[in-house]
Amino acid sequence: MKEETGLGLTSDAVETMQGLKRTDYCGDLRKEDAGRRVVLMGWVGRIRDHGGLLFVDLRDRTGVVQVVFNPEKDRASFEKAERLRSEYVIAVSGEVVTRPRELVNPNLATGEIEVYPTQLRILSEAKTPPFYIERGVEVDEKLRLRYRYLDLRRPDMQEAIILRHRAVKTVRDFFDREGFLEIETPMLTRSTPEGARDYLVPSRLAPGRFYALPQSPQLFKQLLMVSGLDRYFQIVRCFRDEDLRADRQPEFTQIDVEMSFVDPDDVMSTMERMMKEVFASTINLEPSIPFRRLTYAEAMNRYGTDRPDTRFGMELVDVSEIVAGVEFKVFRDVIASGGQVKGLVAPGCASYSRRQLDELTEMAKDLGAKGLAWMVLKGDEVRSPIAKFFSEGELQRVVEAMGAGEGDLLLFVADEPRVVAETLGALRLHLGQELGLVDKDRWDFVWVYNFPLLEYSEEEGRYVAVHHPFTAPLEEDLHLLTSQPEKVRAKAYDLVLNGVELGGGSIRIHRRDVQEKVFSVLGLDEDEVQGKFGFLLEAFEYGTPPHGGIAFGLDRLVMLLAGRTSIRDVIAFPKTARGTCLMTDAPSEVEKHQLDELHVRIVR
Ligand code: AMO
Ligand code: AMP
Repeated sequence: MKEETGLGLTSDAVETMQGLKRTDYCGDLRKEDAGRRVVLMGWVGRIRDHGGLLFVDLRDRTGVVQVVFNPEKDRASFEKAERLRSEYVIAVSGEVVTRPRELVNPNLATGEIEVYPTQLRILSEAKTPPFYIERGVEVDEKLRLRYRYLDLRRPDMQEAIILRHRAVKTVRDFFDREGFLEIETPMLTRSTPEGARDYLVPSRLAPGRFYALPQSPQLFKQLLMVSGLDRYFQIVRCFRDEDLRADRQPEFTQIDVEMSFVDPDDVMSTMERMMKEVFASTINLEPSIPFRRLTYAEAMNRYGTDRPDTRFGMELVDVSEIVAGVEFKVFRDVIASGGQVKGLVAPGCASYSRRQLDELTEMAKDLGAKGLAWMVLKGDEVRSPIAKFFSEGELQRVVEAMGAGEGDLLLFVADEPRVVAETLGALRLHLGQELGLVDKDRWDFVWVYNFPLLEYSEEEGRYVAVHHPFTAPLEEDLHLLTSQPEKVRAKAYDLVLNGVELGGGSIRIHRRDVQEKVFSVLGLDEDEVQGKFGFLLEAFEYGTPPHGGIAFGLDRLVMLLAGRTSIRDVIAFPKTARGTCLMTDAPSEVEKHQLDELHVRIVR
């Protein structure tokens, strides 16, 4: 059949929808629909030829239904169906029929019925796709990103995208009900103090000047509080030019929030209620609130990290006091010079081979430790290369303090607290996963709060803000601001879920004297401050409510909800780890005249 396409072209195959209206989605049909005449449209999945009958899986966003072409029922459709290939787009009109009991497919929502078509139209042909459009097939990610529109046609990807929509919809409804206003903030703006590298946009009208894409709407949302808008939220794109990982993208989405007249408790409890609704609406789970809270100090002490995976134990134990006097020089010296010795128990690992222990030691060294000391408990005996440096009593006290028993392996690191925490924190995670101690069905929310306000940056030779320079210190620590800046705690909090940092925020400084003090500790002089944040400080002089907020990584949240391990799997069009888009080939070169207009010259 030749058909005039109306464009002066002819096509052998392609027909139009004219005269047909879709009545149902493929995946919605059930036993109760038997006997109905339906019109379905979708993509051809698997085709099976069974002794003169053609079984075609017809797929759309909602699922798959089996369509059976039978030459005895409708020869014309059958003959046309013989031309079908995977991913052709078709329309079928036909009758819904219950399957005989023995042909019911319990794995398919539509498995109790099939459709007997009386009409088939081929709406679009398709090249053979570069990979199977099916659930769960392993495909090289580069290929998936190159053909993202096909990747997104796969059911598991569609489910992730739908789940993301559901999460966002719940968030919007929640905030609306709680009196928050969704307000957009500019994308072409100036550098914000989030600490990553900025993406810059050259200005055509102002030669030599650049906009920065926002790393977050931080300053704008604070200004909205000065404006008296009281409660703000936004589902907003943020841009950070940083080294990318599975849970980091150069552009990502935040659920961004700011509230007036609040303390940390108000922010945290509001966010707990939001999370509860999101979990209920997406994965039908109601986490119990309030979430557990750990101070930063406690998290570092017990887990060696500020985003602990609390789904399993294996907590770090400080044995510094016990080993301060032992003969083992490494331990003694580290403690004498102000360091610490901490350990963890790997349950049931006393049988680890020499090679396994060497691997753990290598791992510890890669993490920055100078070594890894171990002990195993076999029967009544403590075996260890360093046992000879301990008295019987000292060994016993160590084992007791660690809460270890027969068959356990004990690992120790001696160093300055930061190295001890980083090494043991990472070993704990590694062993917890390897030993199968992580309960995958558990959802463990924990707030980590009272972060340090400042940390010393060796690289920059000055104090830098741990969160950002507008984060308020705890009142009781204010007196330490000039004498011991690193001891000052902040009204800052992070929400951690199963070891992933979902979000972070703080109460902001709204007192001018405190803000000036913080700037001076940060080593920012008046000119720098005026240049960078002058507009914010000026605004603060016109009546500023106490305020605070938080931002969540939407991509990370949806990743966890969808049970994925990469945020790329829940972003429709993500970038590679090198920040490129394999489909559009961005970033790309541009025409010379575009650069000229922007007053930009490329230096290679
Ligand atoms: P922060 O910088 O902690 O806070 O960011 C908040 C949350 O955003 C997510 N996130 C990312 N997700 C994907 N890719 C990235 N590159 C990326 N970077 C951050 C994380 C993180 O917890 N303005 C403050 C918030 C505030 O103080 O209110 C801010 O942006 O889940
Ligand atoms: P050495 O005396 O250097 O042979 O070390 C004896 C054992 O102590 C080895 O198993 C080392 O890996 C371990 N070790 C060395 N330095 C440290 C350290 N800073 N913390 C923990 N264990 C260490």
